[in-house]
Amino acid sequence: MNVLIFKNPEEATKAAFDIVSQRLEAGLKTIGLATGSTPLKLYEKLRSTNMDVSHVTTVNLDEYVGLEPTDPQSYNYYMNEELFKYMNFAATYVPNGVAEDLEKECERYEEILRNHPVDLQILGMGPNGHIGFNEPGTSFESVTHIAELTQSTRDANKRFFDKEEDVPTRAITMGISSIMIAKEIMMLAFGEGKAEAVRNMIDVPVTVDCPASVLQNHSNAIIILDEAAASKLKRNY
Ligand code: GLP
Repeated sequence: MNVLIFKNPEEATKAAFDIVSQRLEAGLKTIGLATGSTPLKLYEKLRSTNMDVSHVTTVNLDEYVGLEPTDPQSYNYYMNEELFKYMNFAATYVPNGVAEDLEKECERYEEILRNHPVDLQILGMGPNGHIGFNEPGTSFESVTHIAELTQSTRDANKRFFDKEEDVPTRAITMGISSIMIAKEIMMLAFGEGKAEAVRNMIDVPVTVDCPASVLQNHSNAIIILDEAAASKLKRNY
């Protein structure tokens, strides 16, 4: 793991943007995208570049079950608003959370991933160490599946919804093995709220209790932190 620590989220985002731009210029074909508040500034920078991405396909990590793509809380909506409507990607894929047959949708998504092997996967993490919506305890062998969200994840994400009961209880998510196949992974974590999970990801042996710790097993993972997220690390990086 290549751990990079920056003073604040702005500097960390600048470093992330430089890496993504460099990979795009080098001819990256498929980029894996994440949602949440952490990559928002990265997407803001990307959409203001006028970069030609007509040779690039995007695949997203996850989507809530039960939310229409037009629902402002859905990840389909988020991606359209934050990135897709500004950039000329060859194709953009986000799981369909309202598919009639959710199992089939998971299979369809795995097929998409097989056809578009991810060159660079951008990741964020939940305060409990989840990646995508792979909650603690999820098998490292998992592929795209329906995940039951933990109460702590629903609590962490309720800030985006009007009422707590509106927060979905399930999501479609790429599995941990579908994520790990990416040639390169770039994890972003900012703020004190992530510090404990960051410590469990980096400083403690790999365990299913902290899904993000699986990145220790990846040969090409960059971890981009701000000082607050890095504040509980015992070792110096
Ligand atoms: C959600 C997403 C994750 C994301 C996490 C962190 O749970 N499924 O992919 O990494 O939120 O969100 P934030 O960046 O808002 O802290």
